[in-house]
Amino acid sequence: MEHLSLYRKYRPKNFEEVIGQEHITRALQNQIAQDKIGHAYLFTGSRGIGKTSVARIFARAVNCLNNQNGSPCGECEVCKRLAEQNDINIIEIDAASNNKVDDVREIREKVKFLPVGTKYKVYIIDEVHMLTDSAFNALLKTLEEPPSHVIFILATTEVHKLPATILSRCIRFDFRLVSVGQLTQLLADILDKEEISYDEEALKLIAVAGEGSVRDTLSIADCIVAYSSGKITKENVMKVLGTTDYDLLIKYFDLLKDKNIGELLSLVQEIDSSGKNISVFVKDLSKHARNLLIIKSCKEAEEILNLPQEAMEKMKNQAQEFDEKQLIKYMQIYGGAENELRWTLSPRLLLETLSLTAMTGLENDEVKKN
Ligand SMILES: Nc1ncnc2c1ncn2[C@@H]1O[C@H](COP(=O)(O)OP(=O)(O)OP(=O)(O)O)[C@@H](O)[C@H]1O
Ligand SMILES: [Mg+2]
Ligand SMILES: [Zn+2]
Repeated sequence: MEHLSLYRKYRPKNFEEVIGQEHITRALQNQIAQDKIGHAYLFTGSRGIGKTSVARIFARAVNCLNNQNGSPCGECEVCKRLAEQNDINIIEIDAASNNKVDDVREIREKVKFLPVGTKYKVYIIDEVHMLTDSAFNALLKTLEEPPSHVIFILATTEVHKLPATILSRCIRFDFRLVSVGQLTQLLADILDKEEISYDEEALKLIAVAGEGSVRDTLSIADCIVAYSSGKITKENVMKVLGTTDYDLLIKYFDLLKDKNIGELLSLVQEIDSSGKNISVFVKDLSKHARNLLIIKSCKEAEEILNLPQEAMEKMKNQAQEFDEKQLIKYMQIYGGAENELRWTLSPRLLLETLSLTAMTGLENDEVKKN
C-alpha cells in the first residue's frame, strides 16, 4: 500500500474536525444555517493551519442539500459528489502560478456560467497576494458585482501585501496558530486510529516542534512514524528532530570556552559541509546557552528541560565552566542573528563572525570592521 502522508489522510472533512479555529468555523456555520452567505471571503494566517481545508468544507456546506447546523451532511447526493476532488463547481486556483491579468480575465469570463447541479460555484484563490497589480484590478471588478451563484474565497499567508480595495470587499477571517495542547490531542487521536503506540511526552515534543502549524506537526509525526519501528518514544522524536546533537553543541561551547579559534573555525567548516542548516544550528546554539543558564540557576532544571539523562549530565558539567553573564551574552549574540540569517547570502561567514564575536567578547560590528 502506498503510504499516504498523515496530513493528507486526515484533512478535516467537516467543521467539527477543524481544530483551533472555532471562532471561524462557528461564524461560518451560523451564516450557512441562517442562509446569510457572503460572496467574498478572505482567509488569512500562517501556513498549514486550515485555510484551504475550511474553504473546501465551506464550499461543500453551502451546496449541501441538508446541512447540519451549517456543516455539510456528508450523505446527500451533492455532498457525495463534491467529496471527489476536481468537481467543476469548486474551482481552486493557485495565484502563485496564475498571477497575470489574463488569468483573472479568464476567471471573469467563466464566473458567468451557472453552476452544474449545485447552488453555488466556489472559487478558492490561494496565495492571492501573488497577483500582479493589474490582476488585482481585474479581480476587483468581479468582486464588486459577483453573480449571485458565485462565492470567492481568497486565501493568503501575507495579508499585508493585499491592496485595501480588495480587503474592503471581503469578509475577513484570521486563522490562529494552534496550541500545543490541541496539537497533542490531535496527534493522539490520529495515532490511536492508526493503531500506533506512543508516549504522551513524545507527542508533546512533536507538537512543540510544529510551532502552531497543524500540517508541520503532522509532517514531523510522519517522519517519526517512518523512523520508529513500534512505539513512538521521546528518544525517537529527539533523534528525528535533530535535537540530540548535544555532543556537537557541547563541543562547540568547549572550544568557545578554550578560545580555540582554529578548531572552532574548522568545526564551523565541518558543520557547513555536512549539509546542516546553519540557521537551525545558530538557533540551537542560542537554546544551548539558555539551557546552560537554566541549569545554573534553576533547581527544577531537569523538569523544565526534559533532556535525556546522558545529555543532562554533560551539560551540568559544562554549565559550571561559564558564568551567567557570559551565557546571557551568547543568547543575545546567537538569538539576535535570526533575521540576519534569513537574508545573508553566506550563512557560514555569518556563523564565523558570530563565533568570533562570542569568543572575543567584542560586538558584532567591531569584529566585522577588523
Ligand atoms: N485547523 C486544522 N484542523 C485540523 N487539521 C488541520 C488544520 N489545519 C491544517 N490541518 C492539516 O494540515 C493540512 C493542510 O491544511 P490546509 O491546507 O488547510 O492549510 P493552509 O492553512 O491552507 O496552509 P497553506 O497556507 O500552506 O496553504 C490538512 O490536510 C490537515 O491535515
Ligand atoms: Mg492552503
Ligand atoms: Zn449534504
